[in-house]
Amino acid sequence: MPENILIAIAWPYANAEIHVGNITGSHLPGDIVARYHRLKGNKVLMVSGTDSHGTPVVIAADKAGRPVEEVYKEFHDGFLEVFQGWGITYDLFTTTHTENHFKVSQTIFLALQKNGFLFKQLSKQWYSPSGKKFLPDRYVEGTCYICAFEGARSDQCDNCGNVLEPDKLINPRAKTGYGALELRETEHFYLDLSKLEPDVKKFLKERAEHMRDTVLGESLGKIEAEGLKPRPITRDLDWGIPVPIDEKGWETKKLYVWFEAVIGYLSAAVEWGQLSAEKESWREWWTNPKAKQFHFIGKDNIFFHTSLWPAELMGVGSAFMEIFTGEEIPLTLPYDVPANQFMNLEKQKISGSRNWAVWGRDALTRYDADALRYYLTANMPEAKDSDWDWAEFVARNNNELVATWGNLANRVLSFCYKHWDGHVPDVDETTLRPADLDLIATIENGFDTVGTELEAVRLRSSLGEAMKLATAVNVYLDVNAPWTAIKTDKKAAALTVFTALKAIDSLKVMFSPFLPFTSEKLNTFFGNEAPLFGEQYVEEIKDSLGIHHGLKYRGVKGTQWKPSELKPGAKLNQPAPLFKKLEESVVEEERARLGR
Ligand code: MF3
Ligand code: ZN
Repeated sequence: MPENILIAIAWPYANAEIHVGNITGSHLPGDIVARYHRLKGNKVLMVSGTDSHGTPVVIAADKAGRPVEEVYKEFHDGFLEVFQGWGITYDLFTTTHTENHFKVSQTIFLALQKNGFLFKQLSKQWYSPSGKKFLPDRYVEGTCYICAFEGARSDQCDNCGNVLEPDKLINPRAKTGYGALELRETEHFYLDLSKLEPDVKKFLKERAEHMRDTVLGESLGKIEAEGLKPRPITRDLDWGIPVPIDEKGWETKKLYVWFEAVIGYLSAAVEWGQLSAEKESWREWWTNPKAKQFHFIGKDNIFFHTSLWPAELMGVGSAFMEIFTGEEIPLTLPYDVPANQFMNLEKQKISGSRNWAVWGRDALTRYDADALRYYLTANMPEAKDSDWDWAEFVARNNNELVATWGNLANRVLSFCYKHWDGHVPDVDETTLRPADLDLIATIENGFDTVGTELEAVRLRSSLGEAMKLATAVNVYLDVNAPWTAIKTDKKAAALTVFTALKAIDSLKVMFSPFLPFTSEKLNTFFGNEAPLFGEQYVEEIKDSLGIHHGLKYRGVKGTQWKPSELKPGAKLNQPAPLFKKLEESVVEEERARLGR
């Protein structure tokens, strides 16, 4: 039975371009796992979008002196280009500024209210008398009252990862031009997380078997230490989703960006369904308790995905569906949150403002997506922070990707193409020798070992397993040397080449979630017409809020995660090298770009 797999990836804020840290943190691991499940024949829905609201985006627009609407759209369109270039195959990458997302978010709010998890309360917020407005969240920075970090935002500290209460911030200061600040009272809705604390704990403990220690430890540890406290889920802000209540004073307030952005995982699925022929199909991932939902995020987002979002879902119970479709049925809860740690760059924290970054769009102008994907997977910060190092990038590209895998595929295919006239050697498979059968068995077994690691979202180790198998094929070829055998014993050479081709044809599938572009190419060299994966394209979507662009994916049907069925005598296509060797000079050139 195919499984329903939801691949939910953190929604990037529309205030900065995507860099390699973002890619290896969430988009790439999500894509790898999505592709794997598609190859397995599972039903995958991979969604995310641009996080278009909240102070991060408003401040970026303020800085640029441009309307928020224009700024978020520009970033959004840029994201689509980056993801397409990197082969991040979103079934739908949308934005939070859509009529659908407004409606779904407001419905979640109403369902929580119906179930008694919301209350109104006055609190003190930073106010700028000269600017005549409240300055929520990132508008105000100061010293963290938990870890003493000086660059904390009033709602969140990037140093200790804690969610903060603005009035406790030490030495508060506004971004620019708002003069002296004062605390003023204002009324907001609060989500009573304390009532949901037992449910959240239970939710986490039930997942202890398969959740990463880093994620579970941080999440449970925080709850044990401080408990879950009620959080305000509305803000005094112009830009965002209106609070769905008809009372005076609330017209100017909006839903808190984190409260609604996480709802995007649900609303994007709904939107994807609406755009398809089967409008209700999103329910296979959202009202099906057997569906497995994976959340790919960076460590700074852990609280929101292991506590806030599950709490919202458990709080709404079946009330969301009751209001939304009239059917009382609960929503599916996340299965796993394989959050990654951070990637640094040449031993320093990546920083967009200092241009200490490798940008997703720029990197593609000089390197192939698969070469970048390889290094980012081999170096993925799964258990601890990792470091992008240009010398290591060049070395691993040349010594592993090119030398171990690329050359293997290219030399066997070219040799075969030349000596067997563009065909797979027409061997009698019953005459395969023990060493041939051994190699074939080893490779077949790889579908389990590589697959098990992928299933458990241990991507570095999974890629490492596939590389080990490529090395095994290289060793086999060294021993059986068809290049010399061909001169004396073409039949023996044919058996070796056939066996190696079969191994490479299988490895192509195992590598394909990681290296989709080159695997697809290799797939055509083997004479296949059916591709391994489908196509990405951009769709223009219109609603009452205007037009937005959705990045979409059309997959291929079938189960491809299985050993090669290559037939003796099959026709091949002209092969070509899959990867490029990089010059050493790249290291200095790239280092010189940093920080300027
Ligand atoms: N925009 C947030 C960030 O860039 C992530 C939001 S993830 C979501 O850190 F779940 F809220 F959508
Ligand atoms: Zn802190």
